[in-house]
Amino acid sequence: MPKIPPLRLGVNIDHIATLRNARGGRHPDPVRAALAAIEAGADGITAHLREDRRHIRDADMARLKAEISKPLNFEMAATPDMVRIALATKPHAVCLVPERREELTTEGGLDAVGQRESLAPSIARFNDAGIRVSLFIAADPAQIEMASKLCAPVIEIHTGAWCDAITDGETAKASAEWQRIVAGAALAQSAGLEVHAGHGLDYATAQAIAALPQIAELNIGFHMIGEALFVGLGETVRAMRAAMNRGRQSIVGHSLAAGKT
Ligand code: PXP
Repeated sequence: MPKIPPLRLGVNIDHIATLRNARGGRHPDPVRAALAAIEAGADGITAHLREDRRHIRDADMARLKAEISKPLNFEMAATPDMVRIALATKPHAVCLVPERREELTTEGGLDAVGQRESLAPSIARFNDAGIRVSLFIAADPAQIEMASKLCAPVIEIHTGAWCDAITDGETAKASAEWQRIVAGAALAQSAGLEVHAGHGLDYATAQAIAALPQIAELNIGFHMIGEALFVGLGETVRAMRAAMNRGRQSIVGHSLAAGKT
């Protein structure tokens, strides 16, 4: 039986930056979120510097690289500008993703077959720089084989279609997507690729996919950031209540002190 790798958790903190940007200030800080995630057991931090900078910005990437103690996974489109920024940032890894400006999130996998000629030089540059390259692709045999031909050491299987089918109650589709992921993970491992997975994962789907022995890393963001609001909101309201109470008590204290004089 092949050795089962430990399963790493990469926490994607993009949407802390989405929230920060809604007010244009510095709070909440994605680097603080990354440090909290690491403190809680994350094995790495993932952030996507999109061309439109809708969430993570250049300065966030630089600070993440400087301030976190765990591997940084720099998600990006393989454009010349982004390749230049990533090479200068020197993250542990880059994950090459397709990007369309009008999309809400990364909607499909990278077409490594169709874009092999433009991807090859970027992959080679990252390999030469000692930065691990991952291709974010659907669990499609042709794409997996192309990732191997392009000498990308890692693939990340796009789990979005599987997760969406489960959420939408499309059982047949969910089952077909799951079979595709199972077969894809096995094929990728036999081709010598390290296998990651991500997109749309929640507690239940993360538990299910964690049972695939070929998977070495899951990259998860949106669900955890959303859950964190509910898990953390009660504590935050209590802290705010306490701060207000302290403020009020200081007036009482002041007037009492004033009364004594
Ligand atoms: N992996 C990749 C390559 C992604 O593009 C994303 C979304 O930014 C994720 C993982 C995380 O997906 P989610 O935020 O849905 O958990």
